[in-house]
Amino acid sequence: MKSVCALITALLSASVCADKTDADDDAARIFSETCVACHGEGVRGAPRPGVKADWEPRLSYGIEELYLNAADGVGANMPPRGLCFDCTDSQLRAVVDYMVRDLK
Ligand code: HEC
Repeated sequence: MKSVCALITALLSASVCADKTDADDDAARIFSETCVACHGEGVRGAPRPGVKADWEPRLSYGIEELYLNAADGVGANMPPRGLCFDCTDSQLRAVVDYMVRDLK
């Protein structure tokens, strides 16, 4: 299976079989390029990454709901796709995962 992945990756020169680290790096990059504008300091109540009190009430709705809201936006303050219009759905999901990881 590994060699199939290597072959596909080589053929498409894309990270179709990317391991977790690549996705993590991507999420951190997207966050710091786009989402940080609001989520970094909690502008207009944007939940801050890793801050348990900001995310716990939201997580009670389930992570799938957060993925959907990241794509569709929330009210007037959280814009659709968090203004990352180049982001794929799976990249947006990875950024949400990145923000809710290691909550303290
Ligand atoms: C222009 C400011 C802004 C940007 C840029 C932004 N957000 Fe948000 N986001 C908000 C605000 C404000 C909220 C809180 C909305 C509320 O609860 O009313 C929010 C909430 C969220 C939530 C929680 C949704 C929920 O259901 O409670 C997620 C997930 C999220 N943002 C993801 C992202 C991601 C991923 C990016 C970057 C790709 C991003 N946001 C960029 C302002 C922003």
